[in-house]
Amino acid sequence: MLDATTLPITSENTRLRPLSELDADAYAAGTKDEAVRRFGHLPESDYTPESVRRMIRDEVAEGLSSGTLAVLALADAETDRFVGSLVLFDVSSEVAEVGFWIHPDARGAGHARRGLELASRFARNSGLRTLTARTLLENKASQRCLTTAGFHEIERAVGTTPAGQREELFHYRRDLKPTAQWSLATERLRLRPHNADDAEWLHELYSRPDVARYLLDEPWTAEVTHDKLTERLAKTDIDGKTGALALVIEHDGVPIGDVALWLTNHEHRQGEIGWVLDPDHGGQGFASEAVRAVLALGFDHYRLHRITAEMDARNSASAAVARCVLTVRP
Ligand SMILES: CC(C)(COP(=O)(O)OP(=O)(O)OC[C@H]1O[C@@H](n2cnc3c(N)ncnc32)[C@H](O)[C@@H]1OP(=O)(O)O)[C@@H](O)C(=O)NCCC(=O)NCCS
Repeated sequence: MLDATTLPITSENTRLRPLSELDADAYAAGTKDEAVRRFGHLPESDYTPESVRRMIRDEVAEGLSSGTLAVLALADAETDRFVGSLVLFDVSSEVAEVGFWIHPDARGAGHARRGLELASRFARNSGLRTLTARTLLENKASQRCLTTAGFHEIERAVGTTPAGQREELFHYRRDLKPTAQWSLATERLRLRPHNADDAEWLHELYSRPDVARYLLDEPWTAEVTHDKLTERLAKTDIDGKTGALALVIEHDGVPIGDVALWLTNHEHRQGEIGWVLDPDHGGQGFASEAVRAVLALGFDHYRLHRITAEMDARNSASAAVARCVLTVRP
């Protein structure tokens, strides 16, 4: 079943959140579009702002609270303005189907692709294992969005279209790798192991010259990001095969950096810690808060005796975090 308490979630400039009565005008206007009428998953034949508000008060609220139907909005992350609709329906404990449409004025900005990625995250966070989608053969834009968001075509078969006709459809599926088994909550943050969807923000962060400057790496290319994420996916336990734990720092559901803790001396239970915080989220004590939580995990749960950190001497922001949470030894 779907867990709406994990919403909203955001990727770049797209937010996935419950549909609100404030969206009613834009939603009703979007449903007048020809392509939305033909391809969108619209249970009703005609919508007015008032009928949308009624739908939100009745079915939408009920579906979200029971976890059986999620009628959501895609919104511009900066303004929260409605840009499209995303629905998860036919929900079971393992699978749900996704339908989506973007308001004609907001098309071509990547909201549909990112919306599908966010829907995958939402479904995974709710414990589902698979998302499916169906689309008409002529709907090239939808097929493009689905494939770039990690869906695979599994068959082409006659089925009932969203508009209720029998037609040939492409059936798509996306398997959702199980999410982190656990997460660590601090006052303002959530720390969790990496998952397969972390490539995009990791690349954005680590390809920034101002971030790479004080690290051992050059700014990451797409290939490097892929390799690094593969390594990190395995770093889920200091006492496991990799001897390391790589955690994503999330604030309000948005990844803003990462912390890693790894064993340097097994016999003497010594470890090292490293962190990177998105400079756009700097100056608010997030890095210290995350590092403190991971230190507590290292000392209390993993029973480490000493944890050290090393950094470029010119990296004063990171040194300030270290000074705040660790004892500095020159
Ligand atoms: C399908 C739809 C959601 C796409 O919205 P969007 O805002 O344009 O989506 P995005 O910007 O995220 O991505 C669109 C992708 O499709 C591509 N595309 C758009 N029109 C296309 C076409 N006619 N042929 C091939 N590709 C096309 C774009 O180039 C883009 O790919 P890119 O990122 O690789 O360049 C929108 O057109 C829509 O609402 N259509 C009506 C409802 C619908 O079809 N819903 C899907 C039901 S399964």
